[in-house]
Amino acid sequence: MKIIKEANYEALSKKSAEIIRAQVSENPASVLGLATGSTPTGTYEELVRMYKQGAVDFAKVSAFNLDEYFPIKKSSDQSYDYFMKQQFFRHVNVAKTFIPNGEAPDYAAECENYEKQVAESGGIDLQLLGIGNNGHIGFNEPNDYFPAATHYVMLDESTIKANARFFANESDVPRHAITMGIRTIFKAKKILLLASGAGKAEIVKQMVSGKITPQNPSSILQLHPDVTIIVDNDAGRLL
Ligand code: F6R
Repeated sequence: MKIIKEANYEALSKKSAEIIRAQVSENPASVLGLATGSTPTGTYEELVRMYKQGAVDFAKVSAFNLDEYFPIKKSSDQSYDYFMKQQFFRHVNVAKTFIPNGEAPDYAAECENYEKQVAESGGIDLQLLGIGNNGHIGFNEPNDYFPAATHYVMLDESTIKANARFFANESDVPRHAITMGIRTIFKAKKILLLASGAGKAEIVKQMVSGKITPQNPSSILQLHPDVTIIVDNDAGRLL
């Protein structure tokens, strides 16, 4: 694991966007894996800025998002579909975008379909990740095994509480989601994980040097051959 410490969130976002820009410049037809949540918003902002300046071109890029609530209307402003359009896709020229369909009639078929689409793309070149306070990556919640493929998941109480900030009430947070599995994520050639803020310091330490256990899904990243972790001073203070 390569660990990069940045002074603050702004510097972290710039560094992360630069790594993604370099990936796309090296391989213009890159397949990117993308994340939602608070942590990557600065990265998307920076990438949009770079795109507008002509420093990066996504015309041949495909992008697969990690996860989506289920069920949820794409038009709902809490859906990850909506988030990605607002934060990133409507500002840039990514050729093909994929997000699990929160409106699918059958979640099991949607999981299978999504896994197939990722495989058919030739595989993810660079996967961007955040980390949950409970160690989740995507919505792979603490469990007694590592779920391999894209699957339907019941969200942890702690995830529902953490994500309530995006909803009017905690009771409005969907209880389920579709997420890429650990194998889906692990097959990415490169992984770039971002963590910001003091609240992530303990789980970041556990991810980097704690026991490898499905109770902390992020710990499996210790076994991936090409992981870069960018932390700001607060999130990295126990490293
Ligand atoms: C988002 C995702 C989640 C988040 C994690 C951290 O697509 O898969 O794993 O990365 O919950 O969220 P923030 O960045 O809001 O702290």
